[in-house]
Amino acid sequence: MEGFAGKIAVVTGAGSGIGQALAVELARSGAKLAISDVDTDGLAATEQRIKAIGAPVKADRLDVTEREAFELYADSVVAHFGTVNQIYNNAGIAYVGDVEVTPYKDLERVMDVDFWGVVNGTKAFLPHLIASGDGHIVNVSSLFGIFSVPGQAAYNSAKFAVRGFTEALRQEMIANGHPVKVTTVHPGGIKTAIMRNSTAAEGVDKEGLTQTFDKKLTITTPEKAAREILAAVRKNKPRVLVGPDAKVLDAIVRLTGAGYQRLFNTVVTRLIPNAH
Ligand SMILES: NC(=O)c1ccc[n+]([C@@H]2O[C@H](COP(=O)([O-])OP(=O)(O)OC[C@H]3O[C@@H](n4cnc5c(N)ncnc54)[C@H](O)[C@@H]3O)[C@@H](O)[C@H]2O)c1
Repeated sequence: MEGFAGKIAVVTGAGSGIGQALAVELARSGAKLAISDVDTDGLAATEQRIKAIGAPVKADRLDVTEREAFELYADSVVAHFGTVNQIYNNAGIAYVGDVEVTPYKDLERVMDVDFWGVVNGTKAFLPHLIASGDGHIVNVSSLFGIFSVPGQAAYNSAKFAVRGFTEALRQEMIANGHPVKVTTVHPGGIKTAIMRNSTAAEGVDKEGLTQTFDKKLTITTPEKAAREILAAVRKNKPRVLVGPDAKVLDAIVRLTGAGYQRLFNTVVTRLIPNAH
């Protein structure tokens, strides 16, 4: 794949899964990479793969919840490469538990990483992306930013918020004539470590849930997901549904309106009784 030759691309959460695959695919497409993660071992593995491709790469430990660090990081990327063209706000965490048994601190932690991390990345890089004359912000929401399921209120809240924030931002960039494109990404089930890395409310069978997720709910590889995302970025799509499950379930939600809730509740409680 080509089309990103010479572009400076920033990827958060690049030490694993979709972020790692995005960074590698961008490097193959000619981009120069600024990658970050809190997992420095995973990040080092991604850095090695990018170096093996022969693409320039700057790798840094960055926690996306740390706003000041993110702003300093944005400055350091521009100082290093001279400009910046794209940011993929990808870092994210999962949490499983019904509202009734979810402590406030867990709701807040998911919002901090999955929503505020995206806001921090967007705002830290926005002035630089405008100045580049050719910017693109790619914010990773989820299929769970399109519909809700029981046991996912924290994650659903954060991912719906990412969608609302990003769709408003895209319209603002157009209305204000800024040279920054904006894309919201809604992956379906992607074969990554996200469920293994997740936390859960007391009483949730996380091991059983991880096995169900890995075996039954994930059908798309991170590499395929990255290719679909980058194809959408090339075409400046406002929204990308990643994987066949995402496309089918989005269609069901559109056809049934709020009626999807009764349908999905029944399916989820039968398919994954250990999810809440
Ligand atoms: N895998 C799926 O099925 C799926 C579906 C929909 C959306 N997503 C979203 O895709 C994105 C990537 O997830 P993934 O599936 O590749 O998961 P993953 O767990 O494999 O990778 C996520 C990466 O984010 C990093 N990270 C976590 N908290 C961080 C923080 N505070 N600061 C910086 N980095 C942090 C982790 O260390 C990890 O390397 C997430 O936003 C996730 O919500 C995934």
